[in-house]
Amino acid sequence: MAATPTAPQSAGELSFRPGLEGVPATHSAICDIDGQQGLLTYRGYSVEDLANHSTFLETVYLLIWGELPDADQLAEFEHEVQMHRRVSFRIRDMMKCFPASGHPMDALQSSAASLGLFYSRRALDDPQYIYQAVVRLIAKIPTMVAAFQLIRKGQDPIQPRDDLPFSSNFLYMLTERAPDPLAAQIFDACLILHAEHSLNASTFSARVTASTLTDPYAVVASAVGTLAGPLHGGANEYVLAMLEEIGSEDQVEPWLDRAIAAKQKIMGFGHREYKVKDPRAVILQQLAKQLFDTFGDDPLYDLARKLEAAAAERLGPKGIYPNVDFYSGLVYRKLGIAEDLFTPIFAIARTAGWLAHWKEQLGANRIYRPSQIYTGSTGRAWLPVQSR
Ligand code: ACO
Repeated sequence: MAATPTAPQSAGELSFRPGLEGVPATHSAICDIDGQQGLLTYRGYSVEDLANHSTFLETVYLLIWGELPDADQLAEFEHEVQMHRRVSFRIRDMMKCFPASGHPMDALQSSAASLGLFYSRRALDDPQYIYQAVVRLIAKIPTMVAAFQLIRKGQDPIQPRDDLPFSSNFLYMLTERAPDPLAAQIFDACLILHAEHSLNASTFSARVTASTLTDPYAVVASAVGTLAGPLHGGANEYVLAMLEEIGSEDQVEPWLDRAIAAKQKIMGFGHREYKVKDPRAVILQQLAKQLFDTFGDDPLYDLARKLEAAAAERLGPKGIYPNVDFYSGLVYRKLGIAEDLFTPIFAIARTAGWLAHWKEQLGANRIYRPSQIYTGSTGRAWLPVQSR
């Protein structure tokens, strides 16, 4: 088998870049990243401003329609999302057949795809259809994540509570009690921070799927599958396991030296775009601190900070710093959320970005169909099975 090339190779006038590093694959007006300065903006607004002042649903509206909503638009969007939170009993029954030992990301991918069976009308050039599809997906994905969590524990899913805003309602459906307002506000800010990040692997997957003019449920389901991998959204789940494996602060440096010597990737570190600390990690660290100051310490936070400092000395010169996944798990753990739900929560947030890219792709669509450099055999003569 031919080895996977690691350096750019020439194919006529174009060069092959493994992982498409640095290759523009679309024009986009949704999100901008300055990886040298650690800046991230959604539709021109800094992610810091949005995390501090906006709500997740307002940010969803901004990402998808390009402008912050006025009061009426926001109220209508919030109301519509609230009205569409429930999922069909048929979907809940289908989820009851999933193995309880299965990963919640697999459950989410299947249930997101199943929405296409229930809402099969497709009118991609109708703004009202786009609005309704956005509402349904933003509203129902959290309900499906929470439902699987209860179903796998042998319980019936909890119906959404109409008096609770988006994040409070999700935490309520998950934990069976309305959360502390500060906890819900911090969770909402986490969703804002994860809502969009330009042409990452799952968003690229969403755009490729969208470019075939399939339905938005297939677009989101394909992106969920892509987000699940440990090199992408799945990393947040592994960060806590890594911190637990390190165990104590005095073990940080020896553990890190062993990991680097073994060429092991340190989970929650490194990013294709950022060569400095990910701005989302900066804000998530502040949110984690706020949570610990209010609700009590987590020893893993001190360990994480020690690991960050030790890694800065050893990996910083290569531009490897904490990414969004490094502190998010500590926040979710403090909110009492199971570790294998961290990536589904990432998906709840990133559904906003995927849908913004779906809509943008439809606005100037051409099906994705890149080329390849063929490295296989040629001109082989077929032999009957007895002669091979
Ligand atoms: N720990 C140690 N070394 C690292 C790390 C890391 N986390 N990340 C990159 N490096 C090193 C690589 O070993 C490589 O070194 P070399 O040139 O000496 O061989 C160099 O940095 C470049 O690494 P690549 O893997 O080629 O970088 P790429 O841009 O392809 O990968 C990625 C980016 C996948 C995020 C990578 O940094 C990684 O695997 N990180 C750990 C997993 C993780 O946290 N993923 C979440 C990313 S954020 C998100 O998707 C939401």
